[in-house]
Amino acid sequence: ATINYRLADGTDQVVDVPQGWSLMEGAVKNGLRGILADCGGACSCATCQVVIPDDWIARLTPASEEEEAMMEFAADPQAGSRLSCQIPVTEAMDGMVVQLPKTQL
Ligand code: FES
Repeated sequence: ATINYRLADGTDQVVDVPQGWSLMEGAVKNGLRGILADCGGACSCATCQVVIPDDWIARLTPASEEEEAMMEFAADPQAGSRLSCQIPVTEAMDGMVVQLPKTQL
């Protein structure tokens, strides 16, 4: 799916992310700045936070209890914040905008 990662400086980086990768992998493997993913996708670091716009968040599978719990450790979480390693990319997400936060720490 084509994912539009919006960097903290407002720049859009549109990349094609294969189905089955997570949103985190789509950013990290394409060298995009803004995601640290210290734990490598194990839902135990909260440094892969992204913010999903309202119109897209409702279409995603809701966060698991583990993700909700880990979100407490994320930097300045807001409505629409998710951990990108916990969101598998599907073709239905084609065109989705993913905002990368200013900081992950
Ligand atoms: Fe660590 Fe997502 S990469 S919680």
